[in-house]
Amino acid sequence: MGAKAKYIWMDGEMLPSEEATVPFMAPALHYGLGVFEGIRCYETPSGPAVFRLEDHLKRFLDSIHVLGVLDFKYDLPTLRGAVHATILANDLSDCYVRPLMYMAEGPLGLNLDDQRPSVGIAAWEWGTYLGEAALEKGVKMAVSSFTRHHPNVSMTKAKITANYANSVLAKTLAKRSGFDEAVMLDPQGFVAECSGENLFLVRAGVIYTTPRATILEGITRDSVMTLATDLGYTVVEEPISRDQIYIADEVFVCGTAAEVTPVRELDFRTIGEGRRGPATQAIQQAFFDVVRGAGERSAEWLDPVKAEEPLKA
Ligand SMILES: Cc1ncc(COP(=O)(O)O)c(C=O)c1O
Repeated sequence: MGAKAKYIWMDGEMLPSEEATVPFMAPALHYGLGVFEGIRCYETPSGPAVFRLEDHLKRFLDSIHVLGVLDFKYDLPTLRGAVHATILANDLSDCYVRPLMYMAEGPLGLNLDDQRPSVGIAAWEWGTYLGEAALEKGVKMAVSSFTRHHPNVSMTKAKITANYANSVLAKTLAKRSGFDEAVMLDPQGFVAECSGENLFLVRAGVIYTTPRATILEGITRDSVMTLATDLGYTVVEEPISRDQIYIADEVFVCGTAAEVTPVRELDFRTIGEGRRGPATQAIQQAFFDVVRGAGERSAEWLDPVKAEEPLKA
């Protein structure tokens, strides 16, 4: 995520990024009291367009609701306009967009009701997350010794910033151990998801993915399920064990950052042929077609970036 944003939308104002600062005493900084989204905008023949923007903003508002912030003042149309304005202000086309709600003011304590939320939106150029080569060759993963959140300890439906310490622990351990990404098991020992992606496997022509209870309900996951069904595949949601991954014909992970990336190895076991398989390739192609404006669902899922949206709440 190297590149820097030039302008950041903060509570209705477009600020140069140096001025978009958070006070040291903001409760968000001390207790992980924030909620974020990760969204991609793609260059298409008719200009930049944001992939499933309304679905991302709906999840953003749902995350804020799950965290328990009352009377949040921004609605979806306002946030949508602010995302468009941020992309335009930064003169971007292919980019990553990061809305963040954070508890900005209030006494340093543990009661949300004493605090006041702020919202910032940044956008910057960002290439492939797991590497360009990985899109074809696949990534190497290991099952993490860190367990994914128990849904009654730290809820998995919300992109709450504090939850991401769990992902950071798993991702850092995986990278230091020589892997590209970590597979995380749920508290019962079934596969949940990766540190920032959902997981799919293919066996005998059928596509499987994990049930929703202990995962973030990925928007890319939903898109993949729809595109795979459009392509004629049967998609089954059922509990998956780590050894079902070992013996799968194909495995891939997906997310806004990772897009659709094949997995070639888990825990030093080669998966299938050890490279991108035909189902993964077909789904990856359908995904890139749709985000680039050349898919049958492009009109449904792409939100062309335009000015003149409302800026303030
Ligand atoms: C833990 C986790 N799982 C899955 C995903 C994939 O979700 P999406 O496809 O909506 O980006 C993400 C990324 O947001 C994530 O952080």
